[in-house]
Amino acid sequence: MGFYGDHVVPRIVNVACGNKELRQYRDRVCAGLSGEVIEVGFGSGLNVPSYPASIARVTAIEPADLGWRLAADRLAASDVPVERAGLDGQSLPFEDDTFDSAVSTWTLCTIPDAGQALRELRRVLKPGGTLHFVEHGLAPDEGVQTWQHRLEPLNKRIAGGCHLSRPIADLVTGAGFTMKELDEFYAPGAPKPMSAFKIGVAAA
Ligand SMILES: C[S@@+](CC[C@H](N)C(=O)[O-])C[C@H]1O[C@@H](n2cnc3c(N)ncnc32)[C@H](O)[C@@H]1O
Repeated sequence: MGFYGDHVVPRIVNVACGNKELRQYRDRVCAGLSGEVIEVGFGSGLNVPSYPASIARVTAIEPADLGWRLAADRLAASDVPVERAGLDGQSLPFEDDTFDSAVSTWTLCTIPDAGQALRELRRVLKPGGTLHFVEHGLAPDEGVQTWQHRLEPLNKRIAGGCHLSRPIADLVTGAGFTMKELDEFYAPGAPKPMSAFKIGVAAA
């Protein structure tokens, strides 16, 4: 990824995504996780303080070594065992039907082929296992969508490949998941092109 991607972006994400406004969404998404869990795009472990006791173990997929190092204090303070076991959500080194739940927070915007990553998550989830997610993506309003398309090339350059206009719900169902819950809204306090949030639960 180069110096900027390897050494700067993970620090920016650690600070920008570590604010207290986002904690409520992390708590909400993590609340339903249980058993053997896979987290794709683990980053610097910002979800770790939100993990419920119902989780037996988390298998973390994260390409950025610096993200994993920045997670050290959160991991040390948690009772939930976490193992980094993969680098790329698009190709998961696990058997079919391995996990009870999966979690993705603001990651489907960044993985180059989000559809492939979702198909992999569905493959490694047990039948009926659930994917819990909070993502930002394509806004519901045309005017905001226009700005998302205008800003996307620049945003991808400065934010480690982060797309603004991905149709998250369509990607999830397109990978074969059944959407069980979906809440779409603009998160307050951020520009609309970046804050068209989608919080949901989908079954494999
Ligand atoms: C915006 S950050 C979000 C990090 C974390 N999920 C959070 O909520 O703080 C996107 C994350 O996706 C990771 N990522 C990028 N490409 C990936 C891939 N192919 N597979 C898995 N994770 C990836 C990045 O390294 C980064 O940690």
